[in-house]
Amino acid sequence: MTLVDRHNIVSDVTVAAFAELGWKVDRVSADVFDFFGHSNQFDLVAANLFVHHFSDERLAGLLAMIARSAPAFVACEPRRGPVAAFGCRLLPLFGCNEVGRSPVGGLWFERLTHADTRCPKRS
Ligand SMILES: C[S@@+](CC[C@H](N)C(=O)[O-])C[C@H]1O[C@@H](n2cnc3c(N)ncnc32)[C@H](O)[C@@H]1O
Repeated sequence: MTLVDRHNIVSDVTVAAFAELGWKVDRVSADVFDFFGHSNQFDLVAANLFVHHFSDERLAGLLAMIARSAPAFVACEPRRGPVAAFGCRLLPLFGCNEVGRSPVGGLWFERLTHADTRCPKRS
């Protein structure tokens, strides 16, 4: 398994935990656009709390690169909506900082779907 982030965020403890499950982890510190620009091929690409960082245009470009690199893509992102937005506004009452309230800045499911429709499909 290859874990990519532009910062070195994957700890030895995490790598050891994956090893116990039988997974060999390769940690890569790189910009994701550089990483997928090098025609790597994978069985699956998964992202966790990641794609909401990018503008619609950058997101469409990223999805196009991923589509060339793997047959499937899974993204785990906060789904913004009125209930979540209201709930997030209450989080400071419990001492949460801006990071804790990040679903406010998260990704609309529709936005991801829209970006996908602008992305070239695998043949
Ligand atoms: C909310 S954190 C999530 C980190 C990790 N995926 C997790 O679930 O713990 C977002 C991460 O995206 C990384 N990131 C943002 N833009 C990036 C880019 N262009 N290339 C690589 N990593 C990027 C940041 O360094 C940060 O670690």
